[in-house]
Amino acid sequence: MALINRFKAPSNLPRIKDLRGCWVNGTFDTKMAGGCNIFGYDTTIWDKVKKEEKFMFSTALFSDPIFQTLAKKLYFRDLEDVYYSGTSGSDAVEVSIRAAYNINKNSKIACRQGAWHGGTLFASSLGSHSYFDVYKDMFNFNIVRKPEKIFRGYKTISELVNSDVEFLKQNKDIGVFIVEPIPSINYGLSFKFDRPDAYNKLREYCTENNIVLIFDEVMSGFKTGKKYFTEHLEIDPDFLCLAKGLTAGIIPFSTVLARKGYLNDLAHGHTWSGNFIGVVAASHTIDYFYENLSNLHELNREFSKYFDYVLGSYFSINKNKIKNSPRVIMPSVTEYDNVVMQIPSNTPKKHFQMLLKQIMP
Ligand SMILES: Cc1ncc(COP(=O)(O)O)c(C=O)c1O
Repeated sequence: MALINRFKAPSNLPRIKDLRGCWVNGTFDTKMAGGCNIFGYDTTIWDKVKKEEKFMFSTALFSDPIFQTLAKKLYFRDLEDVYYSGTSGSDAVEVSIRAAYNINKNSKIACRQGAWHGGTLFASSLGSHSYFDVYKDMFNFNIVRKPEKIFRGYKTISELVNSDVEFLKQNKDIGVFIVEPIPSINYGLSFKFDRPDAYNKLREYCTENNIVLIFDEVMSGFKTGKKYFTEHLEIDPDFLCLAKGLTAGIIPFSTVLARKGYLNDLAHGHTWSGNFIGVVAASHTIDYFYENLSNLHELNREFSKYFDYVLGSYFSINKNKIKNSPRVIMPSVTEYDNVVMQIPSNTPKKHFQMLLKQIMP
């Protein structure tokens, strides 16, 4: 199956204008700008932001009802509190870790080795990537990493999570466990979402052992047919981190959701935490996401049968298909030859048909 990526696009691309989906001059962009532009090169969100009647400086933080409006759109189930952490996935991760420490005062943090949680000093020390080997002497946090080889076969999420529980049982006194609930590129791409109760045992174990559970959905948010991958599960984490797709790639913005009261004692944020344009963009992104979901359902019904390796997005997590779930893969996949793409939810059918013509023999 052919790989279609933005690197095949000519370097002299015209200004991107009114292109729907991830089409750039007839080429399908699988990278989605680092996993941010969930609607491809659709400028709708930007157009809506520009039409806002007012502009507020970032220093006007929380002085407008939009901050409440967005919080209401973001929270769900037990995650009732929303904190506008800043402008990147890394800062969302850092905030959740600090807030977790406020809860049980236990700084021993567990994670899955190889997972990517960001580029700041703490976030980068979590996954222990070779990119950061030069800074190893500076990584003095109390971190235990669940050893895991990059995995290229196809494993189920419940298998992965069961091994997480075993790992936690072997490592006593853990205060925090941070994971991507559906691992993305850096963790090997190769997980099937098999059952909605996949995380139940882990949730139970963490609750019983006073371990704060953090879900990093910086990459998976808005890419699985629901706002959060967690919505496909039966349980909630204690914290959930979001960035990237939350503003559809038009402005950097991040947030952390948590159980009630868990974010109360954070001492200080960042200059641009909760910046007005980000809040407006996130609010429109969520609305537009739902407006386009029915299109995605339709694309799914019509086209998913064509794919052996169906990726990311809703295609892979169709409830009716949960039993024989296709592979769930995130974007940013250009180096893997068995991987196709993530379909933005608003890809018009005709564009999708064009894509099929290109990739089908
Ligand atoms: C799962 C995950 N968490 C955190 C981050 C860090 O986000 P940022 O690069 O916006 O700091 C990333 C970035 O790729 C990510 O994929």
